[in-house]
Amino acid sequence: MAYATLDDLLAEGVRGRRVIVRSDLNVPLEGDVPSLTVTDDGRVRASLPVLRKLSEAGAAVIVLAHLGRPKGAPEEKYSLKPAVDVLRELADFPVTLAPDTTGEGARAAAAALADGEVLVVENVRFDARETSKDDAERSAFARELADLAGDDGAYVDDAFGAVHRRHASVYDIAALLPAYQGDLVRDELVVLERLTKDPQRPFVVVLGGSKVSDKLAVIENLIGTADRILVGGGMVFTFLAAQGHQVGASLLEEDQLDTVRGYLERGQRDGTQFVLPTDIVVAQRFAADAAHAVVAADAIESGTYGASGIGLDIGPVTGEDFAANIAEARTVFWNGPMGVFEFDAFAGGTRAVAQALADAQAGGALTVVGGGDSAAAVRGLGFADDRFGHISTGGGASLEYLEGKELPGLTALARD
Ligand code: 3PG
Repeated sequence: MAYATLDDLLAEGVRGRRVIVRSDLNVPLEGDVPSLTVTDDGRVRASLPVLRKLSEAGAAVIVLAHLGRPKGAPEEKYSLKPAVDVLRELADFPVTLAPDTTGEGARAAAAALADGEVLVVENVRFDARETSKDDAERSAFARELADLAGDDGAYVDDAFGAVHRRHASVYDIAALLPAYQGDLVRDELVVLERLTKDPQRPFVVVLGGSKVSDKLAVIENLIGTADRILVGGGMVFTFLAAQGHQVGASLLEEDQLDTVRGYLERGQRDGTQFVLPTDIVVAQRFAADAAHAVVAADAIESGTYGASGIGLDIGPVTGEDFAANIAEARTVFWNGPMGVFEFDAFAGGTRAVAQALADAQAGGALTVVGGGDSAAAVRGLGFADDRFGHISTGGGASLEYLEGKELPGLTALARD
């Protein structure tokens, strides 16, 4: 697909124009209203360059973004305020937050916006029409958003993390204003294309996270493309059960057992090797301070906690085995933590994989960390961004790209 780019827009000239930018400021928060704080500012940092370019070029910039999944009405805990506070600290241009999305406050602030200033309007999901399934409703909301730019406005989509959503601020608005692709979306696509089109081999994919049902389509698409798929996280218990092992009280999606058996068979046939854990950290209960022990992956119920044991991380031998597989790779894509990394006792597997990716990158491989959770995990464990080839800002978006799905946000921007 061909897109008009931010550089095209800058070449046309933006001084004196109001430019709407869709950014992904959906950052993880901790604490309670009114003292919520951002725990991983990666998406805010990734949004800065495009805003800076436009501000420096003299545009009055209006940012659209979502945070969390509010139910279509304002709720303080989903306000963009904490994200905008971080943006203001990092930015070398003036940033303000409007009190609403397309109401009187936002309209007045947009009309008064001076060249070089940036105005973020409140969470677009405070309006139910943003995510509506009804085209006319979404389109009406997109019209209100586009009107914030007035005559001679433009729209830049820089929210890679949201390109898989057919939402008013991502999809419908692109039909109402001259639409351009932001640099973040461009850069993310360059990396993902390298993974899907002729990756350097061995191409190793590491998949974790809780549910196999969230990853079905991506696994489908990677069988035959990836040389090896290393499986950890909560989803691994469905794989172990599919091989006939008992998994105690660990997370298990019984309705996916046949599908997973099919994957294991197809993997053998099509040259993709599934690498599963040989040991598991099993806990007595789901808690940060739970008693735990390392047991063989094929004998969880004969282990210390019997049938009530809950697997919360891959074991140390598996961590080493995964690291050895990653060390042989020339291309690595990782999505999903290996265990409950938020609890220190169950962070070992995720840490081992993060370290192995960082080492592989230092050795010349291309390593890509995909997904909000995995990105937050590596940063939370103290790994600097530059130790990886690329940390994607998109969780669902990067997976859907690898699934080969059409991404509405990109379709809307495409020019023939
Ligand atoms: C994400 O967190 O992956 C993006 O910001 C999209 O958010 P969503 O899954 O709530 O649409």
